[in-house]
Amino acid sequence: MSSRGSRKVGAPTGTMVEYERLVEAALARTGNVERGRKRLLTVEKSQCLKCHRLGDQGEKIGSELTGIGSRFSRVHIIESLLEPLRTIAAGFQSQTVAMNDGQVLSGLKIIETADTLVLADNQKKKHSLLKADIEESQAHAGSIMPDGLEKTLTVDEFVDLISFLTSEKQSAGR
Ligand code: HEC
Repeated sequence: MSSRGSRKVGAPTGTMVEYERLVEAALARTGNVERGRKRLLTVEKSQCLKCHRLGDQGEKIGSELTGIGSRFSRVHIIESLLEPLRTIAAGFQSQTVAMNDGQVLSGLKIIETADTLVLADNQKKKHSLLKADIEESQAHAGSIMPDGLEKTLTVDEFVDLISFLTSEKQSAGR
């Protein structure tokens, strides 16, 4: 593991050490795929399926996790989990809107029609907005995938989760 850390900008040192530890563990160890799957499917704990879809379970706010292991490398998957802000998947930019009544909302655009816009915020709440009520709207780079998901996991659980995701190679819509 030579210079992985030097590419990272602006992370506080404490989380930096933790980050390195998780990346190294997840790259070096095999993990337990079945435990990782169970972890991911335990929505109250992992949260993942509140936004992602796996097989016929979960929501479609985030990208499809079905078959993710055949689309992405282990490193990409690890980094997506640890640093959702840095590795934003295409088509998932956030939108900030200022409403006529002064309210400001940020979230991921999940539905847009001629007169409505539906945003999902990082609390997994959906906001249905009338375009007529929107004063200004701006797209920006930013993910609603919450930061620090790994803090709810032990190193072992993290490694298991990564192992499950990298082994998840079935095709979508099976
Ligand atoms: C609040 C919603 C939310 C939760 C909870 C969430 N994600 Fe995400 N996730 C997203 C969104 C939106 C994206 C796409 C934007 C991005 O790349 O950050 C994403 C991206 C990803 C990616 C990258 C996929 C790609 O196409 O590059 C992976 C892998 C991933 N999430 C796994 C997970 C796992 C595993 C969990 C649970 C530990 C989780 N996510 C929890 C919303 C969420």
